Amino acid sequence: MKALILAGGFATRLRPLSCSRPKSLFPLVNKPLLQWIFERLADSGVDEVILAVNALTQFYIRQQKPSKCGLKVRFSIDPPKKPLGTAGPIKKAEKLIGRNEPFIVLNGDIFADIDYKKLLETHKKTNALATMALCMVEDPSCFGVVELCEGDCIKRFIEKPPKGQAPSNLINAGAYVLSPEVFDLIPEGRAISIEREIFPQIAAAGRLVGCRINGLWIDIGKPVEYLEANKLILDSIAHTKTKPKKIMAEINYPVALDQGVVVGENSIIGPYAIIGKNVKIGNNVTISDSIVFSDAEIGDDVKLHGAVVGEGAYIGRHADIGNGCVIADQAKVKENVHMRDGSTVCPAKEISENIL
Ligand code: GTP
Repeated sequence: MKALILAGGFATRLRPLSCSRPKSLFPLVNKPLLQWIFERLADSGVDEVILAVNALTQFYIRQQKPSKCGLKVRFSIDPPKKPLGTAGPIKKAEKLIGRNEPFIVLNGDIFADIDYKKLLETHKKTNALATMALCMVEDPSCFGVVELCEGDCIKRFIEKPPKGQAPSNLINAGAYVLSPEVFDLIPEGRAISIEREIFPQIAAAGRLVGCRINGLWIDIGKPVEYLEANKLILDSIAHTKTKPKKIMAEINYPVALDQGVVVGENSIIGPYAIIGKNVKIGNNVTISDSIVFSDAEIGDDVKLHGAVVGEGAYIGRHADIGNGCVIADQAKVKENVHMRDGSTVCPAKEISENIL
């Protein structure tokens, strides 16, 4: 079974963290999202994955080398400076995917407990051209919403309906099984949206089918969602509560500490602190509801609450970084700086004044 992962978007809503890494390589509880996706696909019997990316994303993935989990992984690259949207890359990968059997397509920015075997079985049992995984959300206005009729056939598919006008709370979970005939519906060589241009056609022909999923489903489109995704995953996975021997600090679980983390005395780590590889944390530091990427350094007396600190970033003594703030990779926040309410620092920039 083959799966195509769409991972060539620009993740504009996750800037400045996405200025220096693609969304598919964002760590979720210290493991790149792509690796979580590979694991689930391999467990579902997929043997080959095609990554539909741009050249820069391919470079980052090759550099980081997430574990392939036994899958054969190939790249299909969008043309330079011509992103193909969410349908164009499927057409571009037609030769790699082949026309012999239905295949899986998924967005590379969702963390989901999807049973791909069930999705494929549903697809084979019906006369569908496309079978879409569906999940229930409270506010569907930011998603593709479906209206179902008999036999879970999707009568209408509406992308991002205005608030209060959605026909249901069932949304496109960003994973599909497609029959090879779908290749014939996608024009070649230009950007095209599967959500806005292809699914409505298939729905109108009565050949778009829905398949509900029940497990965890998280879209990591925005920083708040990214933080929330990490917290939900931390809650959902079994983690050790044995304090690492070398750590003389108070640990309030749930917490995830990767290898090589050093924490100074009288620091309070957690709840919901996710600390990447080789991070150095000073004395009297408090960290909660926050993510610190690998190789970052946090000085003495720092407070981090509801923040994300990028790879190799430096936070000077007595800094106080609050809700929704994002410090990008290699950035430097100087001593005593206070940051609040979603302020951000771009990669490798230095900041020495408060941002309130
Ligand atoms: P924003 O800019 O923040 O909206 O993010 P995005 O465009 O990266 O993500 P969006 O949710 O719009 O796209 C859904 C999935 O399709 C993501 O996994 C993207 O990486 C992927 N994707 C979006 N546009 C393209 C594209 O032009 N080419 C390829 N290969 N993948 C794409």
